Parts: sequence; structure tokens; C-alpha cells
Amino acid sequence: MMQVDHVIASRLNTGVPLVGQVCQYIISAGGKRLRPALLLMMAGALKYQQATRFQLAAVVEFIHTATLLHDDVVDESTLRRGRDTANQLFGNAASVLVGDFLYSRAFQMMVEVNHMRVMEVLAEATNVIAEGEVMQLMNTRNADLTHEEYLQVIRSKTAKLFEASARLPAIVAGLSTEIENACAEYGQALGTAFQIIDDVLDYDGDVQTLGKNLGDDLREGKVTLPMIYAMAHVAAEHKHLLVDAIETGGNVDLDRVLLLIRQSGALEFTRAAAWAEAQRAMDALTHLPETRFKEGLLQLARSLQHRRH
Ligand code: IPE
Ligand code: IPE
Ligand code: MG
Ligand code: MG
Repeated sequence: MMQVDHVIASRLNTGVPLVGQVCQYIISAGGKRLRPALLLMMAGALKYQQATRFQLAAVVEFIHTATLLHDDVVDESTLRRGRDTANQLFGNAASVLVGDFLYSRAFQMMVEVNHMRVMEVLAEATNVIAEGEVMQLMNTRNADLTHEEYLQVIRSKTAKLFEASARLPAIVAGLSTEIENACAEYGQALGTAFQIIDDVLDYDGDVQTLGKNLGDDLREGKVTLPMIYAMAHVAAEHKHLLVDAIETGGNVDLDRVLLLIRQSGALEFTRAAAWAEAQRAMDALTHLPETRFKEGLLQLARSLQHRRH
């Protein structure tokens, strides 16, 4: 990971001070570097050792960081990685524009890799993420959102970049379509599980460890799996309270809503749904040789069970 951080730091060069400032601010705040870690572990598991892997790991982290800058504007979020969001500190305009800088810097770096399929996969992933965020926007305050529609959103906005991160090492290593697809499935399933847990933590997390505010999803009118399950399972006389919280937003009694969600069993159901995806991720790796990297990938999927941030 040190090599990736080195590539990241060395590619933030710009003649425009504000660009540098915002990039430094969000990138030095840390973050789990999960997508680069996944990419490097997969490269290891596939015995791919060229330096291109560090470049690609930095590319996916840049794309991820760009989506966060944009996402926090759209979601009007104030806390990220335990600090004020960039939009809070520098304003929406600077966040959007520096997000564009990071996307396009990622594209410059991926062009340097000079591999058509790599460009295809990253271009498609970026495009699908944007669609996912727009689909979610269209469903703001939609109390009729189905489980299937929810899955489509999170597969696009989150799982797609995990999928690309897992697929790229197989492509640059020149492996078979079968292996490539197995790697991609691991990434897709892991990313889906990761976002499902994220959606549980928004109701059931700790603001200190999470580094983000709780209850944001409901405040924004974002319908996620715990809410979808709870609406289908609470007693009829309580359902209107949940629908109301989604549709009107203002003045929601978060404690009351949380209690209803807890009592409905939605948190257990949602954690189980994430766990099923994590298992699908692990199953996808069955045919890879036993290496410490594969063990790391399995461990990453297992660790989602205890994810708190
Ligand atoms: C946040 O991603 C956005 C989601 C997909 C939930 P991460 O939780 O990976 O964010 P950082 O990079 O660790 O801050
Ligand atoms: C994360 O989405 C952003 C993307 C995946 C593009 P969310 O809005 O659900 O995640 P947080 O809670 O802000 O990290
Ligand atoms: Mg958000
Ligand atoms: Mg969002």
C-alpha cells in the first residue's frame, strides 16, 4: 500500500493551488483504501507482479475519491472520514470541480497503462457509477422502492468499482475470460455486501468509528434495505410512520423510526443479506490457487461481518 500512496501523492501535481488544497484535504484524511487493497490482493493471487498494479490501484482510488467529493455535495453531507466534508469547508462548487479534476487525472493515468480493455472497464465502471447515483436521485423519497431496485442502485453506485478493481488484475495478467469473470464476481459481490452493511451502519453504527453522521439516509429520503424490509414487516398501524418519514423527511422522529426498524428485525435481515453476498464473493474464488493473497481476499469478505466503519 505504501507504493500506492506514493503514486497517489506524486500524481496530485497541479498549477492551481485550490485544486491541490482540496485534493490534499480529502486524500490525507485517509480512508480505508479498500479498492486499491482489493486490486493488489487480487494481483497477488493471480501472481501478477508488474508495477502497473500500483498505477491501477491509484486510479481506482482517484475515481473513488472523485465520487465521494460529488456524493457529499449531492447528499449535503457534512462529515466524512471523521472531518468536515470538502463541500462543508470549500463549498459545493470547489468540490464538484475538484472531483472532475480527480476523474480526469485518473483517466490520464489509465491511458498511460496503454491497454484498451483496461480503459474499457474503467470507462464503463465510471459511467455506471454515475447512472447509479442518478437512479438513486430519481428514487429520493420513493417509499415504493423495491428490494430489486435497491440492489440495482447499489450494484451500480458501489459494487461496479469493486468489480472493476477485481477484474483489472486478471486483464493485465492476460488470463482467461473464465478467471477474469470469477475475479469480477468476487468484486461485485463484495462491493454489494459492503454497501448493504454501510446501509445498516447508517441506522446502527457509531458516529465516532464510522466517521460519518448516522441517520443521513433517512434525512435525505434515501430508501435502503433496512427500511424496505421494515415497511413490509411492521404492523399496519406503524407503517404510515415509516412512509411518512420517507416521503416528508422534515421533523422525523429518528428514535421512533429506529425503534420500529429494530423491532421489525430489519437489521438482522439486512446483515444476513450482506452475509449472503460475502459468501458469494468467497465462492467465486474457489478455483484460484491457495496463496496468502487469496486468504487475504477471503478474510476481507469475512471481515464484513464485523464491519463498523
Ligand atoms: C464510502 O466508501 C462510500 C461507500 C461506498 C459506502 P468507503 O467506506 O470505502 O470510504 P473510505 O474511502 O474508506 O472513506
Ligand atoms: C456512496 O454512496 C457514494 C458512491 C458509491 C458513489 P452513499 O451516499 O450511500 O455513501 P456515504 O454514506 O455517503 O459514504
Ligand atoms: Mg453519501
Ligand atoms: Mg449518496
